[in-house]
Amino acid sequence: MAASFIKRGFKLTDDLKRADAVVVNTCTVRQRAEDKAISQIGRLRVWKKNHPEGKIFIAGCAAQKLGGKNLKHRFPFVDEVIGAKDIDKVDAVVEVYFGGSLDVHELPVTSNQLPVNDESLSITDYRLPVTDYQSPISAYVTAMRGCSLKCTYCIVPEVRGPALYLPPEEILAEAAAKAAAGAREIILLGQTVNAYAYKTPAGAISFADLLSRTSAIPGVSRVRFMSPHPLYFNADFFRVFRDNPKIARYVHLPVQSGSDRILKAMRRGYTRAEYLDIVAKIREAAPEAAVSTDFIVGYPGETEADFKETLSLVAASGISFAYCFKYSQRTDAAGLAPDLGEAEMEERLSRLLAEVKKNSSDILNKRIGRIEEVLLEAEDSGRTSANFIVRLDRETGLKPGSLIRAEITGVSKNTLKGRLIS
Ligand code: 5AD
Ligand code: SF4
Repeated sequence: MAASFIKRGFKLTDDLKRADAVVVNTCTVRQRAEDKAISQIGRLRVWKKNHPEGKIFIAGCAAQKLGGKNLKHRFPFVDEVIGAKDIDKVDAVVEVYFGGSLDVHELPVTSNQLPVNDESLSITDYRLPVTDYQSPISAYVTAMRGCSLKCTYCIVPEVRGPALYLPPEEILAEAAAKAAAGAREIILLGQTVNAYAYKTPAGAISFADLLSRTSAIPGVSRVRFMSPHPLYFNADFFRVFRDNPKIARYVHLPVQSGSDRILKAMRRGYTRAEYLDIVAKIREAAPEAAVSTDFIVGYPGETEADFKETLSLVAASGISFAYCFKYSQRTDAAGLAPDLGEAEMEERLSRLLAEVKKNSSDILNKRIGRIEEVLLEAEDSGRTSANFIVRLDRETGLKPGSLIRAEITGVSKNTLKGRLIS
């Protein structure tokens, strides 16, 4: 989205006072995210009053779920609503408002006047131009959109539609553009990114192929991916993961629950044992790899016994970190209303957080004494391949983006302390 503005002469700012246009990119995966988006939009009322020429665009999944009509009715000062399924239209919308010159403010256009099914809009039209753009060291590149699985609690398939894999040449071109603009690490994104598959006249491209090709781009020293799904790992992946050191030794692998009964109710498609087997295979391929996860507590029907299975999975899987969420009802489907009270939800969440913290701390401590390769994000800090943040004991004089070796000397909260070796 930023690219559409940048290529028309805009500069990015988070200072509202200086902005000519504001884009609120919204999430709806949990109710809290949607509430946050709504209150952000509400706060723009005053901004619009003080900047009547300024434009407000609401994008993303909450925009998709709530709908343009509804949002514009609630927030009449909003100029355009572009739902997640219409992301390809962002460029056309920006063109309508700002095409040619930044002064073309007066076009009174509403979303229903915009091209509806403009197949001619290719993804490359709104991808980042190489010029005038300094990439962060670690840059995201979307490999797929949407999701074709049907986990019961999840709103993503509804607001983003089924899985759509992007053509490899577009993904690789964007990664190369970002590498040329300074990125050293590429993070391939998708809801089930390891399901990636694309048929080309020259043959099919698998996720493993995509990883290899991305890692071969000049300037790229590391490739990460987010998030894989346990169902889509195969031998091909494990071979490439084992043999290619540029692929980060880190896998964020959402599990959601440690109980087979709850996993089944959630329609996750794997058992606890199968999940643990995949974690074991990751470690077999790369013993130093870190695995992190997502958990949902308080899914309808989750008993204390089910929850204990989740707690015990933390140590059993040896995860280095976890995002833990309280169940949030996102659909009206019967049987999906939460059956735990807020207090019980909170109680389970805090027990889980404590367990995760204890295990993370053990895992961090085990890294002391090791020599780690660190990709600098600042002169005195960066990340290891296993995604641990390392703070060095002094500034290195090296540029962010440099790959250095550091001896891990200690742990401070969630980060490692290190000493530059070379
Ligand atoms: N309630 C709570 N957490 C959810 N997630 C997805 N849907 C819900 C929901 N309805 C969490 C999952 C997922 C992460 C992105 O968000 O853990 O992996
Ligand atoms: Fe949602 Fe992820 Fe399940 Fe897809 S795989 S339905 S995005 S939780």
